Amino acid sequence: MHVKTITTTPFSDQKPGTSGLRKAVSVFQQAHYLENFVLAVFDTLGNVSGKTLVIGGDGRYYNREAIQIIIKMAVAAGFGRLLVGKGGLLSTPAVSCVIRKHRAFGGLVLSASHNPGGPDGDFGIKYNIQNGGPAPEKVTEAIFQRSKALAKYRIAETPDVDLDRLGKSEAGSTAIEIIDPVADYADLMESLFDFAAIRKHIAAGFRVKFDAMHAITGPYAREILVNRLSAPQDCLLNATPLPDFGGGHPDPNLVHAKELVDMMFRADGPDFGAASDGDGDRNMIVGKQMFVTPSDSLAMIAANSTCAPGYSKGIRGIARSMPTSQAADVVAKKLGVPCFETPTGWKFFGNLMDADKVTLCGEESFGTGSDHVREKDGLWAVLFWLNILAVRRQSVADIVRGHWREYGRHYYTRHDYEEVEAEKATALINQLRSSLASLTGRRYGRFRIVLSDDFSYKDSVDGSESHQQGIRVIFEDSSRIVYRLSGTGTKGATLRVYLERFEADNSRHDQPTQAALKELIDIADDIAGIRRHTGRDQPDVIT
Ligand code: G1P
Ligand code: ZN
Repeated sequence: MHVKTITTTPFSDQKPGTSGLRKAVSVFQQAHYLENFVLAVFDTLGNVSGKTLVIGGDGRYYNREAIQIIIKMAVAAGFGRLLVGKGGLLSTPAVSCVIRKHRAFGGLVLSASHNPGGPDGDFGIKYNIQNGGPAPEKVTEAIFQRSKALAKYRIAETPDVDLDRLGKSEAGSTAIEIIDPVADYADLMESLFDFAAIRKHIAAGFRVKFDAMHAITGPYAREILVNRLSAPQDCLLNATPLPDFGGGHPDPNLVHAKELVDMMFRADGPDFGAASDGDGDRNMIVGKQMFVTPSDSLAMIAANSTCAPGYSKGIRGIARSMPTSQAADVVAKKLGVPCFETPTGWKFFGNLMDADKVTLCGEESFGTGSDHVREKDGLWAVLFWLNILAVRRQSVADIVRGHWREYGRHYYTRHDYEEVEAEKATALINQLRSSLASLTGRRYGRFRIVLSDDFSYKDSVDGSESHQQGIRVIFEDSSRIVYRLSGTGTKGATLRVYLERFEADNSRHDQPTQAALKELIDIADDIAGIRRHTGRDQPDVIT
């Protein structure tokens, strides 16, 4: 086998964000762009000779081309074994599962998650380490530094691998194995949840709808829900993965999964609805006429975790990202387990799970998961809910209302201002930062600020520190406003404003969310001058 050495020059913009390197497809299609980043990863890993690498993506446009390039570069780098999902497919949680199960050295995930796909959409690449989780910041930073100093890369001159045929082949000293992308993951789910109880519940008439949004989870949902849990075929919506996700935006939320949400709010709608995103790590849970916020979902899974056999011994702790609501904290307190607050992004949970400090993790951005893998996991959350519902035999709405009665309700919303000019967004954040000191003690109507800061985090396992992780304004009654700029967007800047208010009084638990948070929404603009800085008088997306 011949290995070619190709001269290249560095790109200055290969800094991984919240979740890997995400750019427009056209950026990745530039000559050497993908190759440079892959080399920066391999160089950062050091000696990879003989090691196992998992490769797979969410099937979006450019997935197959990228995988062929990565395979040839991995062969040239001397990896011993490559495990590649058939069709180039592997959901993000499945990559994590396969890395762990097959004791791989790491994996490359090709995805831009919930960002639209297609020739005019986005593409992305992310490296996951041996524990199955996203590389921590010190690794992504080293990759970025390396990317700025590349002069040449090596690529094997081998024919393209047939991605659609299961089985083994060899190139140089590398074994290339095309694996079933679903089997290992489905087996893991079956080991955690009471499939017999869920099957029985569905057979008794419990109606489920799952929207795969034309993204990666279609084949996974078919195997798990239809083949293993005997749900009817028509429980699946948009279950064929398409390179452009059917032109949609594969983000499971009230805006982008509207078809499902509308169905769930009809009087004769199904009992349970769920959706997942481009790469299968996000989830949205909706009951009949009851949307479950992701923050609440984490808290409710925690409160009911012993319903599932894989969690029957109880949980060790919970971690949530800082902007996620404090609903989980209240449950952790009652269970007598710790609750950790981390910066945004799943990579901060890995150390806590590896050190056995937490079992469940979650983010407000439709991400929930546990230590079964080291990624958030969309179908896992769906199955957890199905397991809870099969055991408790109540409706989603009854479980949610019962939870609020017991723990109080955390009204919660996120307002996103998308594609704001970068300078304007930065000016807003800078001004907020410089006003932090003077905010504490200030009163807005009935809300008095008791703390305002730019969130910093010290990892309790390895002592690493992360600063400037979002501006928090905390009020006397534990209400909060959080401001941060997205680290995953590819166009301009996205300003995220997170709003939260706790309501203990059960007679006030049925207000519409935006109305319940109206005062805080106005205060958020007063404090940060959102309209003044951005020229927008409305957020683009409200979740
Ligand atoms: C967003 C979410 C964050 C999540 C990430 C990857 O990042 O807010 O919680 O971990 O996507 O799915 P952001 O764009 O806010 O940086
Ligand atoms: Zn995702």
